[in-house]
Amino acid sequence: EGNKLWGGRFVGNTDPIMEKFNASIAYDQRMWDADIRGSKAYVKALEKAELVTTEEMNSILHGMEQISEEWAKGAFVVKPGDEDIHTANERRLKELIGEPAGKLHTGRSRNDQVVTDMRIWLCDAIATLKEDALQLVATMVERASVEIDVLFPGYTHMQRAQPIRWSHWILSHAVAVSRDVERLQEIRSRTNVLPLAYDLLMLLLHVNVELEFDGISINSMDATGERDFVAEFLFWASLCLTHLSKMAEDLLLYSTKEFSFIALADAYSTGSSLMPQKKNADSLELIRSKAGRVLGRCAGFMMTIKGLPSSYNKDLQEDKEAMFDCFDTLHGALRVTTGVMSTLKINRPVMEAALSPDMLATDLAYYLVRKGLPFREAHGLSGRAVFQAESKNVPLNQLTVEDLAAISPLFDRDVAAVWDYSSSVEQYSAPGGTARSSVTAQVQHLRRWLQDH
Ligand code: ARG
Repeated sequence: EGNKLWGGRFVGNTDPIMEKFNASIAYDQRMWDADIRGSKAYVKALEKAELVTTEEMNSILHGMEQISEEWAKGAFVVKPGDEDIHTANERRLKELIGEPAGKLHTGRSRNDQVVTDMRIWLCDAIATLKEDALQLVATMVERASVEIDVLFPGYTHMQRAQPIRWSHWILSHAVAVSRDVERLQEIRSRTNVLPLAYDLLMLLLHVNVELEFDGISINSMDATGERDFVAEFLFWASLCLTHLSKMAEDLLLYSTKEFSFIALADAYSTGSSLMPQKKNADSLELIRSKAGRVLGRCAGFMMTIKGLPSSYNKDLQEDKEAMFDCFDTLHGALRVTTGVMSTLKINRPVMEAALSPDMLATDLAYYLVRKGLPFREAHGLSGRAVFQAESKNVPLNQLTVEDLAAISPLFDRDVAAVWDYSSSVEQYSAPGGTARSSVTAQVQHLRRWLQDH
């Protein structure tokens, strides 16, 4: 056991099954670069504090660079005793440069190291996901701008509600993703904090300058024993994918033969091994399903940390697989969603033909409101008209003026103006509405937002 980092007080060997159970190297080697960056900054601080000589520092830095090259080339050989990335890098450093390698760990613990590495890694990951999400928002905003004149049915409870612009639907999802970007930035500000609980203030300050963290942790027990920054990220991933899943579900429905509002590009569809006619929207189904996967990671990790005592416990090793998996899943899902949204084709005639006069029943009520009736009463009378049209088995706009006048004497010939989808949509010109001017304002707002992010 002599080669274990903690072998001094041990005489017995580790059970090989325990060895495997304990090891995190299989997955935490993804943090090799963060681990090396952290150690390089740390050795520079040790030199400033005169805990290593300049020569020793240079030798450690040189060794670290070699290890970095090995990882980058895929040439680093993980050995059986390498418990985790920190152990592996230090073991290799010793092989390469000999004794001064042992000085690197002065004043720091793996518990400091692991959380430092994770914060470095997650900040990089957040930058990648932010770009992915911005790309998606940009794609949606451009699509909304180009297709602004397309109308189609808006739904609530999945029932036909009122005519809206297709772009209004697109932007409803784009704004949600834009908030995800903002949330991600907030998480970054709490992630980009140096946790290393150094024994010397000078070490701490110097490492902080080297690694360019935004701040320093206030309390060493909190720094090493708390993973709320990971939990926040997992929740972020769950929420963001929940947004994508909602959008995917709508698109799945719109892509069915029965709706035929949209057609997915072949690039994001798959076929059936049996039924030659099939074109399945697997991309959308996967986006929908990954929301469940990521939410499970979040819930699982919360259960792991719930009830832990203070400071570091090995349970915390579980944070990494959850974090990596959520990153990978989001990185994939955001890019696939961008691909789907930039390549799908809409079927404008079908979308517009799907609008039906009953979707203007609210407008019929507004007609009566304009003639002085309270909305509640107007709603009731319009509902009577809907009932009558259904009873006569005719579309709402086919009721005669006489039919309508029997319901309310306020109905007159000018009611004909109600049966116009475009003017219906154009009424909603308040901010956030579906009128052309309002949707244009939404596009402009999001374009400016994109410039600021
Ligand atoms: N591999 C460990 C982790 O991922 C690093 C810290 C180990 N610390 C310890 N005291 N055993 O959390």
